[in-house]
This record gives sequence, C-alpha cells and structure tokens, in this order.
Amino acid sequence: MLKEEILKLKKERNAIILAHNYQVPEVQDIADFVGDSLELSRKASQVDANVIVFCGVKFMAETAKILNPDKKVLIPDLDAGCSLADSINLEQLRKWKSEHPNAIVVCYINTNADIKTECDYCCTSSNAIRVIQSIPEDKEILFLPDMYLGMWIKKQTGRENIHIWPGECHVHAGFRYEDLLRKMEENPDAEVMLHPECGCTTQCLYHFNGNVKVLSTSGMIRNAKESKSNKFIVVTETGILYPLKKASPQKEFIPADENAICKYMKMITLEKVFLSLKELKYEIDLSSEIIQKASIPIRRMLQIA
Ligand code: 13P
Ligand code: SF4
Repeated sequence: MLKEEILKLKKERNAIILAHNYQVPEVQDIADFVGDSLELSRKASQVDANVIVFCGVKFMAETAKILNPDKKVLIPDLDAGCSLADSINLEQLRKWKSEHPNAIVVCYINTNADIKTECDYCCTSSNAIRVIQSIPEDKEILFLPDMYLGMWIKKQTGRENIHIWPGECHVHAGFRYEDLLRKMEENPDAEVMLHPECGCTTQCLYHFNGNVKVLSTSGMIRNAKESKSNKFIVVTETGILYPLKKASPQKEFIPADENAICKYMKMITLEKVFLSLKELKYEIDLSSEIIQKASIPIRRMLQIA
C-alpha cells in the first residue's frame, strides 16, 4: 500500500513530512507534523532529518529551505503556487519602496522568496499584530501583499501609518458578508471563526466585533477545542474541516462556503508524496544570496513571536 511505501521510504531517506492544515486528509494522516504557517516555519527551523518533504504550497517550502539551507527540501508538485504570493512582483515592490523611502516593510509569509529579500519583517496570520506592535509607532509601514489582513491589522493596532498593498487570495477574497450573515441566521447558536485573509473581514469586524473570532488555521483548531460552543461556522478554505473534526470529534463545523477550495493546496496527493520521496523531487533551489537575504525577515519574525 502507498502509505506503507511512503513510511518505508521516509525512514530510508531520513526524511520528515510537514503538511499544512489545508492538505487533503490522507496527506495530513501520513505527515509527521501538520500546522499553520507559523507552526510550520518553527518546525522547519528545528528539523533534524536530511530531507524535508513539504506538503503545502511553494512559498511554504521555500521558507523551509531558507531556514535549512543545507537540507534537501522537496515539494511534491512544483505547480503548487499561491495566488496571493503572486499578487506582487519584485519590480512593483521596489517602485512602492522608492515612493516611501523611510518605511519599514512587513511582508506576510505568503510571499515568494525574492520578495522576502526586500523586506524588513515577515509575519503570519497568527503573529501579525505582535510583529506590527514591535515596530516603533512613529515608523511608517508598508504591508504586503494581502489587503484584508492589512486592514484587519490596521484596525486592531489603531495605526494610521500603515500602507497596504492591494493583493488578495482568490479563495478567501470570495467570502461575502451577505452569505455569512445568512449562515449565521440559519445557525444562531454557532460561533464564527474567520481567517483574516477573507474578503468579509472588515465588514464582520464592523458589524459584530467580539462575536467573530479572527484566527489562523491552527488558531481555529485550538479555539474550537477550548470553546464552550459545540457548533462553529468556519470561514476559510474547507481543508481545515478535517483537522478541526479530528481535534474536536464531538463538535459540529459548518463551512461558510463549501466551494472555498484552494486548488494549489489540493495538487499534493499521496501518489505525488510517494514519487517525491522515491525520486527526490522536486527540490527547492534558491541561490545563497536569496537565502541569506530572505532569512532576515523570517528570523526576525521567529524572534518576536
Ligand atoms: P495560516 O497561516 O493561517 O495557516 O494560513 C495560511 C494560508 O495560506 C491561508 O490561506
Ligand atoms: Fe494562497 Fe489562498 Fe491557497 Fe492560502 S488559500 S495558499 S493564500 S491561494
């Protein structure tokens, strides 16, 4: 069976399998560790194995490589990209920086490695507020590339001097406030957990600040376990439903949109994980200059939160 073959190869290669919370269930089940972007970066910085098979999207595997330049980092499908990471390129970033020469540049972890080389700090959905709060208040900030996350940070920190890049994730941007409102009316006893990349984040905070919890993917899993509620409306990619249910089997999870599926995350299959380990493909290859420069904002983030 494929699963046994993978486990055998994993041992032979001295490999570790890291997987994001949106991966398909069978991939999550063979992973050594499943988590959100922050947890995966932390895990990647502590890895002992020779090979890391990263089941997620490319910017995540790149982060693992940046933190482990001497290890072999593999992604089972090189086309597993991210529409949000692709919403800004180097030329656009350099032009934006030249218009704000004194600004501190903070990038979301959902950025390609070349973009990170031009940034001062990195952040994820679970530590963005803490990273921004670590920057002196009088410093102008350029935040990129997610506008909904950026607007949430701006509201939560009360900072006016944050400029936000108008990028978005094609999956999360599609969540509409009106649809969520309908789900909430149908399920008045449910708690709402929302990812800050969602297009309806600002409206939700305006209308029900306090009643909607804005959380990273692993933040949702922890919150559901600890909460007194038994029913949750989940406003993010549907892959999260599997680890939510696994961690809290007695609770009910209702997707705000059952069609919110990241096609990039779903490109990683068990078959491709097997081939990745067997043929040691596809290796993440970054120049030493990119690794050195991109590691600065990532390491600063890991020190802060
Ligand atoms: P998390 O860090 O919350 O897991 O989010 C990653 C992501 O790509 C969300 O679309
Ligand atoms: Fe990127 Fe959106 Fe997919 Fe997350 S859900 S990996 S932000 S395209």
